[in-house]
Parts: sequence; structure tokens; C-alpha cells
Amino acid sequence: MTEVLHSPPTLLALNILASTTEAVIAINSTNHIVLLNPAAQTLTGLSLRQAIDQPITTIFKGQKGLLYLIHTAMSEGRSISDRETIQLSRPHAPELPISATASPLFTDNGHQEGVILILHDASNLRQLEQDVQRVDRLAMLGTLAAGLAHEIKNPLGGVKGAAQLLAMELTGRQDLLEYTAVMIKETDRINEIIDELMDLSTPRPQALNDVNLSKVITDIVLLQKQSPDATDTRFILQLDPTIPPIIGDQTLLTRLFLNIIKNAAEATTTDGKITISTRIDTEHHLTRPGQGPTPFVVIKITDNGCGISKSVLKNIFTPFYTTKNFGSGLGLAISQKIVSDHDGLLHLESIQGQGTCCTIHLPFKRDKK
Ligand SMILES: Nc1ncnc2c1ncn2[C@@H]1O[C@H](COP(=O)(O)OP(=O)(O)OP(=O)(O)O)[C@@H](O)[C@H]1O
Ligand SMILES: [Mg+2]
Repeated sequence: MTEVLHSPPTLLALNILASTTEAVIAINSTNHIVLLNPAAQTLTGLSLRQAIDQPITTIFKGQKGLLYLIHTAMSEGRSISDRETIQLSRPHAPELPISATASPLFTDNGHQEGVILILHDASNLRQLEQDVQRVDRLAMLGTLAAGLAHEIKNPLGGVKGAAQLLAMELTGRQDLLEYTAVMIKETDRINEIIDELMDLSTPRPQALNDVNLSKVITDIVLLQKQSPDATDTRFILQLDPTIPPIIGDQTLLTRLFLNIIKNAAEATTTDGKITISTRIDTEHHLTRPGQGPTPFVVIKITDNGCGISKSVLKNIFTPFYTTKNFGSGLGLAISQKIVSDHDGLLHLESIQGQGTCCTIHLPFKRDKK
């Protein structure tokens, strides 16, 4: 090790290490850290002073996955990676999902003198993987639900018809007519839920047109201001007027924003504040084969409501999952479906007790099918 890591590295090697966005950590044969490039300092949250010459068992205390990779590369002289399971603990920051590779470090004469550890922030990738899994699961559930819904709708029609006939027979019997009214009302409610479920399995938006997002959002806010859930809520609109219309299904997009804004209003109590902003995303583009890159419009709906605990957050996109007395638990599942049918992304972040932020990315142009 001494030969490689204690001899003055060339200027080029130093520049490469300083410039790369990959976090590189070198460990000597006695398992002490001897090099930590700037990207590694940023990723781990450790300064050179804290890390250099420290044993890895101190620096990566309790991080079994990382220590296993280093140990295997050191003892078996082979590279080993884990791209899926490692969470990096950091001194003053939340845990970070990372992908890590440990490779043996050889000197010119072929002696193994330590290990090079390369770490990479995998948070975006893991988020994307989770989104894809969620959409797949929803699509499957949607198909299942559509089949089931079809089977339920016919007998339900029969029940409602019978209740209506019974009501006709009971003319004048107000006490009994109350029961038939409940039967009819409740069958209507089941029907509505089934219709919503069937929406989950509708393959694609049907009516694609130019949609003025600012208008859709302003109309919903006007309506929502009248609702009892929002009497104490201030709405702040920061809508970029230069955003051109996007191509989408106006009815579905209205439903999407209504679901999200309704959730925000239901989460706030006194001194509620809901901020809705739109902007063009200049960093990301959607690329399809044979087409130029399409920019996204980003819509953020932020509330200062009750927020969502981590255990609830895991389930909020599952159909029928609700924490409300009168919720059907389909709002977010349907919203997720609408966004993915528009080739967009929906992401929800929340801190319990502080509020929630829902971010939606929608591409401007789509093929009119
Ligand atoms: N902005 C928010 N603030 C706090 N909790 C939220 C927010 N948005 C969603 N949730 C949580 O996610 C759950 C699921 O939301 P979803 O919209 O799917 O169903 P729901 O609102 O309960 O019922 P529905 O929308 O069908 O009337 C909610 O019950 C609530 O616990
Ligand atoms: Mg809802």
C-alpha cells in the first residue's frame, strides 16, 4: 500500500479524483482510510480530518453491508458490488441509498495493498424503481378490479331495480320508504366506487386536446374555496403565465388536480395554506424514439397540513387505503394512473406535523392517438 498511496500521486490522477462525481475512498491493508476525494466527502458528510487514518470499523460503524464489501475485496482480492441494499448512515444528514463497489488495489508488482471503495448516490434510481413497481402493481390491480367490477355491476342493477319496485309498492308507507331510499342511495354509492375502480384500468386517456393548466387549476381553486374543508385555508397561486397549453385529457387532468388539492384542503385546519406553483423544468426532458426531447411542466401543490407519517406514506397509493372516515382511498391511486397515462411522474413528500408537497411532472407534447 505504502508504495501506491504514500508516493506522491501524479497531478493528473489528483485532478481526476478531485473532479469526478463518483465518491472514491481508498483503504489501506490495515483497514484505515487513506484517501477520501471531494465527492466522497460530500456524500458521506465526513471531512478529511474526521476520516483520514481512521479505521473503517469506526467510520462505517454498524454498516454491515459496506464493511462486508470491503472485507471481501480485501480478503479475496476480487471486486464486489451492491447496488440495491446499502443505506449510508451520515453524521448530520438522513440515510442515503447508495450503490457501492469495493475493488482490490494492486501495486505495480501485483501485490494487493488495500481496497478502493466507489460509492454512488442511488436515491433517484431507487425512487424510480419504486415508482415503476407501483405503476405495474396498479395496472395489475386495475385489470383485476375491472373484471370484478363488471361482475358486480349487473347484480347491483338488479338490487336497485328491486328496491325501486318495492318503493312503488310501498306508496304511503313513509316509515318503510326510508329503508328503500337508503338501499337506492347505497347502491348508487357502490356504483360510483366501481366506476372509479374501472377508471384505474382504462388503458389511456381518450380525448387528447390542448389543456390550459393555469385555467384548470384556477377553476378548481375557485370551487374548492367554497368547500367546507377549506373555509380557513388560504390559496396561493404561483402560476407561470408563459407556460403553453399541454396536450392531455382535460377531464382526467381536472380530476387529478382536484384529487390532490382536495387532499391538501382536507389535511389543513386553522391557518391552512396551500401553495400551487407551475414552472417549466429545464433540467429534465422526455425522450422518445424518433422524436426530439420534450420538456416537462412541473406542478407543485404544497400544504401546511397534518403531514403523513412514514408508515402511512408507504401505503397512500394503494387503492382503498385511507386514513379518513369518509374517504374511498382511491384518489391517489387514480391520480397516479392519470399521470402515468400522460407519460408523467407523480411524487409525494411529507413531514408529519409540518405538511405535504405533491410534485407532478407532465410532458408538453404527446402523440394525439
Ligand atoms: N396532502 C395530504 N396531507 C396529509 N395526508 C394526505 C395528503 N394526501 C394524501 N394523504 C393521505 O393519503 C391517504 C390516501 O389518499 P387518497 O386521496 O388516495 O384517499 P382519500 O383522500 O383518503 O380518499 P378519497 O380521495 O378517495 O376521497 C389519505 O387518506 C391520507 O391519509
Ligand atoms: Mg383523496
